[in-house]
Amino acid sequence: MPLRLTVTLPRVLLLVTALLIVKVTGVVMLGYVNYFPPNFQSDFLHGRESYFFTRYQWAFYPHIVSGPVSLFLGLVLLSDRFRVRFPHWHRWLGRVQTICVLGVMLPSGLVMAFDAAAGPYATVGFVMLTALTATSTVLGWRAAVQRRFLVHRRWMLRSYVLLCSAVVLRIIGGIGTVLEVQALSFDLLATWASWVVPLIVLELYGLRTRRTQS
Ligand code: HEM
Repeated sequence: MPLRLTVTLPRVLLLVTALLIVKVTGVVMLGYVNYFPPNFQSDFLHGRESYFFTRYQWAFYPHIVSGPVSLFLGLVLLSDRFRVRFPHWHRWLGRVQTICVLGVMLPSGLVMAFDAAAGPYATVGFVMLTALTATSTVLGWRAAVQRRFLVHRRWMLRSYVLLCSAVVLRIIGGIGTVLEVQALSFDLLATWASWVVPLIVLELYGLRTRRTQS
């Protein structure tokens, strides 16, 4: 491949991915009109009225606020240009992101996982996703404190790819709607595929680049 193309193509792909993340997150947030106040006829809240006001709401609202915050902050934090130009801001926003993900987003998602619409096997998937995202974030944070920046970058990239499961899940859901698939097994498969597939792709890509560098 010509040199200019090998430099430009990954940049274009990154830009398209970032735009897709912003677009899908924006669409998800437009759906919040159904949550303030809760509309139990809406897709997500349908059938949740019996337990929503007892405990679910205390996880649900923090989750739907911290989720988009973590996706937008992650985009800023992963930008090389931003980090190089504003290292101080990178450090501060990184702290905010770590608190947001570990202190609010993941614990609230974990509570909600036990009422997952696609059933107990989806719960298992969400619990594993929570554990992996938490582990990646903690190890990424620890590496930054120890000033092992390459390791820090790798773990934080893993953490972000796992956060993007929320985006991938909505994309798969959208494809399911277009294809008029209504099976519960499709939703279950989507909850797993939304993080397992991107994680495998990331690890394979990491292996390849490390091999070509050595
Ligand atoms: C990796 C971390 C995450 C975990 C473990 C997680 C977990 C969950 C769970 C278990 C549910 C309920 C699903 C169901 O009952 O079927 C849910 C719903 C939701 N999550 Fe997350 N989530 C994560 C990341 C995110 C992110 C990054 C966003 C940002 C947009 C987000 C936004 C939402 C929203 C808005 C809902 C309500 C449903 C909707 O309106 O589409 N989550 N999440």
